Amino acid sequence: MRMVVLGLGYLGATHAACMAELGHEVLGIEVVPEKRAQLAAGEVPFYEPGLPDLLKRHIETGQLRVSDSYAEAADFADVFFIAVGTPQKKGEYSADLTYVDAAVEELVPLLTRDALILGKSTVPVGTSRRLSERADELAKDIDVEVAWNPEFLREGFAVKDTLHPDRVVVGAFPGGIAETACREIYASMINEGTPFIVTDPPTAELVKTSANAFLATKISFINAIAEVCDAAGADVKSIADAIGYDARIGRKFLNAGLGFGGGCLPKDIRAFMARAGELGAAEALTFLREVDNVNMRRRTRMVELTREVCGGSLLGKRIAILGAAFKPESDDVRDSPALNVAGQIQLQGASVTVYDPKAMPNSKRLFPTLDYAEAASEACESADVVLVLTEWAEFVALNPVELGRRVRQRKIIDGRMCLDRRNWTVAGWDYRA
Ligand code: UDX
Repeated sequence: MRMVVLGLGYLGATHAACMAELGHEVLGIEVVPEKRAQLAAGEVPFYEPGLPDLLKRHIETGQLRVSDSYAEAADFADVFFIAVGTPQKKGEYSADLTYVDAAVEELVPLLTRDALILGKSTVPVGTSRRLSERADELAKDIDVEVAWNPEFLREGFAVKDTLHPDRVVVGAFPGGIAETACREIYASMINEGTPFIVTDPPTAELVKTSANAFLATKISFINAIAEVCDAAGADVKSIADAIGYDARIGRKFLNAGLGFGGGCLPKDIRAFMARAGELGAAEALTFLREVDNVNMRRRTRMVELTREVCGGSLLGKRIAILGAAFKPESDDVRDSPALNVAGQIQLQGASVTVYDPKAMPNSKRLFPTLDYAEAASEACESADVVLVLTEWAEFVALNPVELGRRVRQRKIIDGRMCLDRRNWTVAGWDYRA
């Protein structure tokens, strides 16, 4: 099938390349010239395992093309995916829908045939209805259907999650073609047995927000338990393992530590709070606010712990920070807990040196005043304390004996509970988590 993907960020670029992989003919629209040039040359402007190969292959065969022209898009296909960003509004909790709205405003007046717009971006409940009404106003003697088809991909596993998702959800208004079109688009996965769930658009919008809110809740739950464990001298990791065996609970997303960050979970739960507030659903608002609070307290707690380990003051101390990306296998530093902690520690008078295997360029752009090292060992040179804040395999594999020769004091704080405590203590380190 021919299709257009509007917006080629993490979501759009992955979706476009994966749709080409499924055999569809895809035109991707990206308005940022540098990004567009890179993508058109078959290069991915961010780190995502597996995506460069896929993109390059389909750009070379012509199965996937990249353009900035909405006129070309309108002419090319009758199915349009919206995959533009929905960031948090500045100084507010709600989602900024400028890019989603702009996509509809620009595209629909150019359409000359009936069309289907499938939203993939994460949006507040009610957005499909509003866009559908707007599309009706803008459409010239044609039918433009709007439906929502949320995306659940994780960074680092984006290709796998897109090609082999846990489920496909389509939120369609009655009487349209969205369900039939999606059955054709995703035929290969449906044939593999992937659950295909058809709902109305508000439900589909809420499926996505609820999924992210639940994942955030799981992480904050285990982090709230971790606070109790700290106070009681218990081991949160063993608790997570033990409760995780209960199939109703499950072990995934119960890793305690520095908490969640990134371009999705934090802004999505805040947008959900804002929307719940607008709708008068006070329980959801209060509940999610506490999920957010627990999460943000983890960052402050890490700063306090570092200060404690430094003997009460950070002034003049050398702190090595291993990890800057919001999670491993990513170069994304949006709302990164690691960089947030690095910034707070620096503000309290310490000298902070950061190393990350993939996120150095993005970190330098966002926090230019921090010091950066080319390797983990270099970052740890003469450090008073080493903080592991992203659980990259490279850090898990560090040799405590070798690193012990580099530092001023053998003190390590494992912000992701990913290191083998015994190995570090045997090598003479004061290990805290
Ligand atoms: C998330 C959702 O998982 C995905 O379904 C949705 O489409 C987008 O948002 P992503 O942002 O890629 O994906 O990251 P995810 O793997 O969910 O991790 C989010 C954050 O939670 C990371 O900072 C991670 O370190 C943290 N986390 C995760 C924990 O602190 N503990 C855990 O047990 C799991």
